[in-house]
Amino acid sequence: MTQAGEAAGESDNGAVWSALSSDYERARAREDSLDTLVEWPAQRALLGDVVGRTILDLGCGNGGKLAELVAAGAGASVGIDVGADLVPARRGLELVQGDLNRFEDLPELTGRTFDRILFLQSFGYATDPVAVLRAARERLTDDGFILLTRTHPLRYARERAEQNGTSLGAEYYAGADFTYRAAWNDAMALTKRTYTIADLLNIFSAAGLWVDAADEPSMSAADAARFPHKKAWMDTYLGILIFRLRPVPGFEERAGQANA
Ligand SMILES: C[S@@+](CC[C@H](N)C(=O)[O-])C[C@H]1O[C@@H](n2cnc3c(N)ncnc32)[C@H](O)[C@@H]1O
Repeated sequence: MTQAGEAAGESDNGAVWSALSSDYERARAREDSLDTLVEWPAQRALLGDVVGRTILDLGCGNGGKLAELVAAGAGASVGIDVGADLVPARRGLELVQGDLNRFEDLPELTGRTFDRILFLQSFGYATDPVAVLRAARERLTDDGFILLTRTHPLRYARERAEQNGTSLGAEYYAGADFTYRAAWNDAMALTKRTYTIADLLNIFSAAGLWVDAADEPSMSAADAARFPHKKAWMDTYLGILIFRLRPVPGFEERAGQANA
């Protein structure tokens, strides 16, 4: 069994995602995938009008979502992913194979800032989450924001409670890494670091970001009627958290004074 991980120092992350990415994209593209039904519509809604907005998508998958945003009128945009399975570049869309943990080193980003920076289900692969978010904040234009989504931590806690015969709270507060098999390829396993909602909010705060908007999207009644198996899954395991994050004004100055 191959393992990839969110934990610092795991070197095979890129190799495993290269192997997983086509399965992931195939599963994501299904009409009854949670990404199609719930996640992408909610992400799109919090992004708002993208016309003329430059976008940096960190952990962009095959770049399909970014390509849709460019087709919707976004300005010159860049997607970074450790996997190599990228849709073809086109006018206004540049896709680069690279590590989001070192995105600042990429020559394609030299001197560039962006109106929107996305971490769509990729933030868990940040080995130093505060440092990566701070670096992203530095790359925002005035009035820019970061859109960040993560799997609801209660989902993993519920799954582990079922597997281990323990309780929701025991798993939610466990604080230890855990391994789970990707639903779209059960030959692969991903090692995840546990996190609580408070952990996420503290990371945002330490990175000098405030939560401008948050969402816990659920299925529409129409989709629930069409895809009752997905509604049943969401009723059990929840879905994702979405945050729109903006820079705290004067954060750097205050941090500098505190350290003086
Ligand atoms: C769950 S997928 C999400 C893809 C896409 N953002 C979406 O919303 O459909 C996670 C993505 O993170 C990428 N990833 C994992 N570790 C990464 C790293 N260190 N640097 C860049 N991308 C990474 C994977 O290759 C994969 O495409």
